[in-house]
Amino acid sequence: MQDCNKNNILMLSNPVAITSTADSLLSDTAIANFQQILKTQGYLYLERLPDDFDHLVFASKFGVLLPHKYNGEYVFTIKVNPNLGDRYPAFTTSEVEPHTEGYEYEHRPLHYQCLWCVSPATCGGGQTLLADGYAFVNSLSNEEREYITVYKFEFVTPSGSIVKHPLYDVESGKQPIVRFNFSQLRRNSDRTLNNIATRFLQFFNDQKIAINWSKNDFLIWDNFRMLHSRTTYQDRDRELKRVYLRA
Ligand SMILES: [Fe+2]
Repeated sequence: MQDCNKNNILMLSNPVAITSTADSLLSDTAIANFQQILKTQGYLYLERLPDDFDHLVFASKFGVLLPHKYNGEYVFTIKVNPNLGDRYPAFTTSEVEPHTEGYEYEHRPLHYQCLWCVSPATCGGGQTLLADGYAFVNSLSNEEREYITVYKFEFVTPSGSIVKHPLYDVESGKQPIVRFNFSQLRRNSDRTLNNIATRFLQFFNDQKIAINWSKNDFLIWDNFRMLHSRTTYQDRDRELKRVYLRA
């Protein structure tokens, strides 16, 4: 597994993050650079940002903010919450399996997801993991890629209803959308689908990068492209903030 060590931003972009002021990170030049990194590798991770950094303003540079359905607000707290944890593992201390956000939507999912760290898990767990879904699709045979593009498959939503989508949703002229959640994808006796889904899970485990959160770190990824998951943790004070964006 490739770790995102504390120098990673220096390898991914111009060395502006660690020594820069909050204002300079929001300059037109810096934003254009960050947008290019996001487009190229599917995610952008900035570490140990200054305390006065405005994560929400920064997030808004990458798309249009979407209000969360739970509270109508742009910024949603990701912390242990028994009320939501019954339905969504993100609000427990448990592992979260690899998935794309909004796989359960009838409509198009959100395009970008942002997280930033208010309080990391002191136990060292609670890593966010990412892997490139487009890279997996590109590794498939033409027949397999056509199979997951042409056919619609059944996803079970957290409320138990069913939505139907391709795994690789290609509308002409638009950016393809990967949808995935292994345990919620009904495979039944479909051996082809089961084979591809199992390999997708293995691909994630082989290729994932790990985000080791520190206070103020910021992460944004392309949810049409990347799968994400989370490792388990014990510290119930761990707190991240989440923002959804459309392009
Ligand atoms: Fe998620």
